[in-house]
Amino acid sequence: MSANEGTRVPERILVCVAWPYANGPIHQGQFAGAYLPPDIFARYHRLQGNQVLMVSGSDQHGTPITVRAEQEGVSPDAIVGRYHPSFLETWRRMAVSFDLFTTTGTENHAAVVQDMFLRLHERGHIYPDTMTLPYCPVEERFLLDRYVEGTCPYCAYAGARGDQCDNCGRTLEPLELVDPRCRFCGATPVARESEHFFLRLSAFQEPLVRWVETQAHWRTHVRNFTLGFLKEGLRDRAITRDLTWGVRIPLPGYESKRIYVWFEAVIGYLSASKEWAQRRGDPEAWRPFWEDPGTRSYYFIGKDNIPFHTIIWPAMLLGYDGLNLPYDVPANQYVTIRGSKASTSRNLAVWLPDYLERYDPDPLRYYLAATMPETSDSDFSWDGFVHRNNDELVATWGNLVQRVLTLVHRSFGGRVPELNESSAPGGRAAELLRRCDRVFDEVGDEIAACHFRAGLGAAMALAQEANAYLSETEPWKLVTSDPPAAARVLAVCLQVVAALRTALYPYLPFTCERLHEMLQDSRPLPELGWAHRPLAPGHALGQPRPLFRKLPPEVVTEEEARLGL
Ligand code: MF3
Ligand code: ZN
Repeated sequence: MSANEGTRVPERILVCVAWPYANGPIHQGQFAGAYLPPDIFARYHRLQGNQVLMVSGSDQHGTPITVRAEQEGVSPDAIVGRYHPSFLETWRRMAVSFDLFTTTGTENHAAVVQDMFLRLHERGHIYPDTMTLPYCPVEERFLLDRYVEGTCPYCAYAGARGDQCDNCGRTLEPLELVDPRCRFCGATPVARESEHFFLRLSAFQEPLVRWVETQAHWRTHVRNFTLGFLKEGLRDRAITRDLTWGVRIPLPGYESKRIYVWFEAVIGYLSASKEWAQRRGDPEAWRPFWEDPGTRSYYFIGKDNIPFHTIIWPAMLLGYDGLNLPYDVPANQYVTIRGSKASTSRNLAVWLPDYLERYDPDPLRYYLAATMPETSDSDFSWDGFVHRNNDELVATWGNLVQRVLTLVHRSFGGRVPELNESSAPGGRAAELLRRCDRVFDEVGDEIAACHFRAGLGAAMALAQEANAYLSETEPWKLVTSDPPAAARVLAVCLQVVAALRTALYPYLPFTCERLHEMLQDSRPLPELGWAHRPLAPGHALGQPRPLFRKLPPEVVTEEEARLGL
């Protein structure tokens, strides 16, 4: 039992998770970057007895959705209707424990976005101004930058887009293309003025610099990137676009325009919290998570989303006034494959729905937690996956459980052996028993600090020690030569197994639940709390079944062959 138990005051933790664009299934990079970490974090905090609210949803607006819809010749709705259910299925099968995973397509979301827009507008943080934009005279509509195509003025590449040239990589303005044409009808776009709204980011420069400078607990790469961005100087940004797929602007005269996807998607954290409160029949329940300054909010995202969460969203919150700023933004770097970012077009990714057709969820959770890109990119390899599964899950942790439970059944009638005075444990055993308590502080401190690799390492180190203790003491021999000594060794190892069933639960929820069933503990695992719950002597244990299966080396060649080039 942990020393401070009973005296600790529960904390309130808001877990905000990046909203994936609903234009394709989840892949290994997104999962390791933004979905597995908050789940480990939330499971740990719930076990600690803290109040957790974990929200996200499908990001259903923006060009990632409309471009995909055009390519397939279907409506944006049809794309969202395909991938939102796919996300829900992935969360269920990978045990990502959202309190709510909604979408940006709800009426509630639009209302919350419009409320924020109007308040920022009233306070002068949002203002209208005219912009010169490309306009298609044939279709009579403004064109988004990427919908203008032409020849790159820098490298003469004929297939450049109005936002960027894929040949030389330069970012472009649509009207600087040579021989520009409308992507849809081929007509030559003309320059035309259009009225849009701008977020007065420049006014938040000083307060943001002061705020970021005090965030000493942020990851170094997040803080440095943000300070570098601020150093460049903030410029006001257009937050509306000429299009019809998105959240409406709540002012008359702007019917043909919509709010820009990045401005509204980040508001999803707030709108989803409100929706969660409404759904549980307590519409004000979101308030303490956003208004109590004692609540800490964490934003789990990939590194490409950093400025939106450390600069733009905080500026919006400062302007709105009265809502908490992020406490931490533990952005991850990428999980690459063969050194590249996941790529749909090159089929270079491990798609979660595909993975789940052939393998169990916990080995992937384990592999991605053990290699989580917290400080720099990490590379996914099937070889690494198979090795970690076979050497660590099967040979270390699974083997410890299997050997101990099997021996207890064979030699002690399946009951937890006594650990009495006459069999007082020697130094090694006593140390292992102490570690059953201490492992909760070690793992818990790492998870609370968002050091997920280190937390997993601390738990697995205890499994390794117990395994080594078992191999050295050889209780399978002691049962005939010195039964009390065998009882002592097995009693100690059973306590380690009981401790790790909880300490590993945030990482390996499926197999820890199965182990918990084998231990026949009457309380549900999530109610055990973040503490060692020793098994009582004489307690009857269920039959052991392997928690993990060894993967043959062919898996590597098979899976490598499935990947594109
Ligand atoms: N949809 C964006 C992406 O996948 C992430 C949005 S996070 C949000 O990159 F908070 F802005 F929604
Ligand atoms: Zn170019």
